[in-house]
Amino acid sequence: MADTTAKLNVGGTDQEYSVLDGSIGPSVVNIASLYKDTGMFTYDPGFTSTASCESKITYIDGDEGTLLYRGYPIDQLADHGDFLETCYLLLYGDLPNKAEKNDFVDRVTYHTMIHEQMSRFFSGFRRDAHPMAIMVGTVGALAAFYHDSTDISDPHQRMIASLRMIAKMPTIAAMAYKYHVGQPFVYPRNDLDYSANFLRMCFSVPCEEYKVNPVLARAMDRIFILHADHEQNASTSTVRLAGSSGANPFACIAAGIACLWGPAHGGANEAALNMLSEIGSVDRIPEFVARAKDKNDPFRLMGFGHRVYKNYDPRAKIMQKTCHEVLGELGIKDDPLLDIAMELEKIALNDPYFVEKKLYPNIDFYSGITLRALGFPTTMFTVLFALARTVGWIAQWKEMVEDPSQRIGRPRQLYTGSPKRDYTPIEQR
Ligand code: CMC
Repeated sequence: MADTTAKLNVGGTDQEYSVLDGSIGPSVVNIASLYKDTGMFTYDPGFTSTASCESKITYIDGDEGTLLYRGYPIDQLADHGDFLETCYLLLYGDLPNKAEKNDFVDRVTYHTMIHEQMSRFFSGFRRDAHPMAIMVGTVGALAAFYHDSTDISDPHQRMIASLRMIAKMPTIAAMAYKYHVGQPFVYPRNDLDYSANFLRMCFSVPCEEYKVNPVLARAMDRIFILHADHEQNASTSTVRLAGSSGANPFACIAAGIACLWGPAHGGANEAALNMLSEIGSVDRIPEFVARAKDKNDPFRLMGFGHRVYKNYDPRAKIMQKTCHEVLGELGIKDDPLLDIAMELEKIALNDPYFVEKKLYPNIDFYSGITLRALGFPTTMFTVLFALARTVGWIAQWKEMVEDPSQRIGRPRQLYTGSPKRDYTPIEQR
């Protein structure tokens, strides 16, 4: 609802734009008619001051360190809820009652298997393929197997595609892992809950009985909750942009996975653990902190800093607690990487460079140590992020598709290339 206006003086003429207020958080200046009014675009590389859409799903207050899914604080959901309940909340806007939850769990669970022909798809990948490469390919390939849920104008098909992706992502992620380590695929078991089933598909082998440890399954579930959505980040914006053209949901989620792979985004958990290994011992921390502060050195402390959080990432606090729980359950008393992480965090949080730039640990700082303790190789870390984020991507995609004012996303540019010039024949160049 517009209750104030913003004035902009362009070439001596005043233009007035409405200011739109959200339920919480900063208001936005609605400049949609700016080009029509003035013949100018706005320029905001990296979208640091641009709201790309209206959304009711997730809210972040980066200065306070607050993260809300549909209004509920992340720590309450992580402490009291479970992942499928969180999925329902993100998709439908409210926590389910008992009957709604049971029905939702049944509907998701029904879809856990993938088409058998899809399992042959995996063998086309090189033996040493990165599991994220496998994820980008196979999730996109879902569109080739589930034609009956690619019509985005049909609400029923949209719903089935959403359930399919939430249900099949653990199966595909576990298959990517099994292929990567050279073990046979393990089919889903629908009598297990979402996270327990995923751990079993990853770690059981035909020759040995595998008993899911409930503490570890709960930790896995909490990690999924923490990663489920995060407002209009790079991969979510990618999904929305891909979806704005009317592309099918499987293709859109594959696009999101591709974007997530980068080390500045979801790839940071893998990079953070590699960095802790590279540091190797507590006495080498000052050397790496000095490198991170050196303007001439591209090195950054992975797992530190965030575009939106200028305070401790609320997910990092829960992840740190989960990390200690997992190590405790597994009887890992001394983890040298955890010692390095805790010392690095202490040093960085007291260093004026990090304090002034408000660089705090983010979710990826402790997730690597936790996932490694659970048994995952570093190459799987971003895959787990993609698995959990799928519901957020779908909720955001669904919100966009269901918005009657939705149009194709089409940013403009500040062109600084050559003005028009005439073609010269090659002999004259
Ligand atoms: N180590 C050292 N210096 C840093 C770091 C870091 N990790 N992060 C930012 N800075 C400095 C940066 O050099 C810049 O300094 P100056 O103003 O002197 O040029 C200043 O802080 C602002 O950085 P920026 O790159 O302009 O900030 P951004 O908002 O564009 O980038 C970021 C955010 C997350 C990409 C960045 O902090 C980073 O590269 N962090 C390491 C990677 C990482 O942990 N990513 C995971 C993000 S959380 C998971 C997710 O949501 O995907």
